[in-house]
Amino acid sequence: MLALPAESVSEADVIAGILALMRERTGYDFSSYRAQTIRRRIRNRMISVGIHTLTDYLVHLKSVETEALELLDRLTVKVSHFYRNAHTFDMLREEVLPGLYRRFGGPLRIWSVGCARGEEPYTLALLLEAAGIPGTVLATDIDEAALRAARRGIYLRDALRELPESLIGTGLEPVPGDERHVRVRPALRRRVHFQVHDVTGTALPLGTTDFHMISYRNVLIYLQREVQERTLLQMRAVLRDGGCLCLGEAEWPPPSVACSLSPLPQRSRLFEAIAAEPIA
Ligand SMILES: C[S@@+](CC[C@H](N)C(=O)[O-])C[C@H]1O[C@@H](n2cnc3c(N)ncnc32)[C@H](O)[C@@H]1O
Repeated sequence: MLALPAESVSEADVIAGILALMRERTGYDFSSYRAQTIRRRIRNRMISVGIHTLTDYLVHLKSVETEALELLDRLTVKVSHFYRNAHTFDMLREEVLPGLYRRFGGPLRIWSVGCARGEEPYTLALLLEAAGIPGTVLATDIDEAALRAARRGIYLRDALRELPESLIGTGLEPVPGDERHVRVRPALRRRVHFQVHDVTGTALPLGTTDFHMISYRNVLIYLQREVQERTLLQMRAVLRDGGCLCLGEAEWPPPSVACSLSPLPQRSRLFEAIAAEPIA
């Protein structure tokens, strides 16, 4: 357990100080995140640097220039892999993407929000490529370092653990002289465009309009309820009626957004965008 100093300053005050300093140093504002997430991630970083109190950590953050980027890395959890939660991607592959193509024709426009190091948008591009569906993926994330890795497109073989064997060759190729890694094929790279974007801000990324599908998975869980709602409403506004919204396994839209979505029947977090119904 963390010991707080006996004197006065509350944990919330110190955390507010840490977030203010993070805003100053990185330009990113984490005040829209759930307090519990922030506390857990800061404590996780404190363990790594061997600091026991939040006030000492604030001093450390102030005095060590590089610490803000280290904490940024902890605050933005980038756990991901190709074809993560296979049954969702099975449905996308077998039903949703072919269905969208039949309905709208091509090219399909997909937005992958909180794309981490590229595993998710490349998987989506791979499904398009394998099915011969024209289309592109806009992939955005708050973390520039993650996007640099995404643009490199080189992954440990373990990142393919859920990807069906039959799809691997379509999207990935061996790295010469390196057994442990694979790299994304040029055909996939051409379909994915990366852009830095903070989903909690008010501005949308450049070129954000009229999507056939939005994948917003495993980001919502970190955000406060009203920010979840605001970001989802913003996304619904740029998702075409008849398009598809995909959330993470533990995520569900609030009523103000759910009224313009229809869950697909199987147990996944896939929704069809429909004309809004009044909330009862
Ligand atoms: C757990 S990963 C999810 C990756 C992928 N969507 C998946 O489900 O496998 C969460 C990602 O959201 C990004 N993220 C966190 N806060 C964000 C924000 N405010 N705006 C955009 N991306 C954010 C993190 O940097 C991280 O890459």
